[in-house]
Amino acid sequence: MNDINETLLKKGYRIVEEIGRGGFAVVYRIFCEKYQQFFAAKIFDVGKPETSRNLGSFTTEISALCKISHPNVISVYSHFNDLNHLYIILEYCPNGSMLSLVEEEGAIQFHYLVSFYEQLLSAINECHEKNVSHQDIKPSNVLIDAYGRAKLADFGLSKNIDMMVKSSRFCGSLPYLAPEVVLKQKHDPFKADIWSLGITFYVMAFGKSPWNAKSEDNLLKQIMRGDVTYPDYPNELLVEFLKSILIINPDDRHSAQELLCHPIFRVNAKKKAMMNSRVNTELKKFARSQTQKVPYSANIFKSKSRRASEESIGKLPPLKPKHENKIVY
Ligand SMILES: Nc1ncnc2c1ncn2[C@@H]1O[C@H](COP(=O)(O)OP(=O)(O)O)[C@@H](O)[C@H]1O
Ligand SMILES: [Mg+2]
Repeated sequence: MNDINETLLKKGYRIVEEIGRGGFAVVYRIFCEKYQQFFAAKIFDVGKPETSRNLGSFTTEISALCKISHPNVISVYSHFNDLNHLYIILEYCPNGSMLSLVEEEGAIQFHYLVSFYEQLLSAINECHEKNVSHQDIKPSNVLIDAYGRAKLADFGLSKNIDMMVKSSRFCGSLPYLAPEVVLKQKHDPFKADIWSLGITFYVMAFGKSPWNAKSEDNLLKQIMRGDVTYPDYPNELLVEFLKSILIINPDDRHSAQELLCHPIFRVNAKKKAMMNSRVNTELKKFARSQTQKVPYSANIFKSKSRRASEESIGKLPPLKPKHENKIVY
């Protein structure tokens, strides 16, 4: 830990707190004195023989992030190393992940939902256009920035698909894997990403996983059968949209670009305009806080401020009840 502190200090960053820990890396919130701003440092230990596989994850993540510049993909600012560690400096997302949002607030309200869907489809479309398949799309890998925008993160399992050779790679998080991946068939990695995004969208819409299997064997069977059930939901357009993503045959599954043309993105136009004006207000507030050095806090999803926004917008439906069970996947 001392060497990490020392390396970061030399680069002008001070560790504030640990904010995440996964299979390959530890993530810290850091403060940059020069820019008077928080960043996230994703740090990979490569100093021991048993941690050498972290090197691959670092290389994969950094090469993908350096290829992609998009408002809904996490931005990378710098990367460096010391003797035992590799560091990636990322933009800091203070509003948690899509998983924590759904766990805390339950299913996401329709107009926010559609806005997030559009942002994430646009992010995935950009990745696919740059020949990057993410391969680990799930709610915990979607972060929420200071302005409430979705940011696709964690490219540690991604793959650069230079030539369209079908893959038989089996990686990612089981409940989000496409049927053809679980079946270990040679498959189109971009179409498999679309399925994972569809499961992520389902969780965001209904606050629960589409799978209810209690054992891994049964979960595998459910996924192979593509056995998704849809709760009673008054908005048929939403259910039809999800069904148009979660198509078992990957050849019939739409691309991100095609999905962006779905009618669901038209009905929301008026509310989207209102959302954009809110984001603009947040941006102005932020800019003011930077010049006047007043503390800035933006969390448009915490219930208090969300209720305030509902009142100001006027006609939004009441908050959905919190989903009782944690989503374990
Ligand atoms: N840029 C960031 N801003 C805020 N939190 C982050 C950021 N990057 C990662 N985190 C936190 O750290 C966790 C793990 O990061 P992630 O990139 O998903 O790594 P892993 O490969 O270990 O899953 C995330 O779920 C999130 O809670
Ligand atoms: Mg992750």
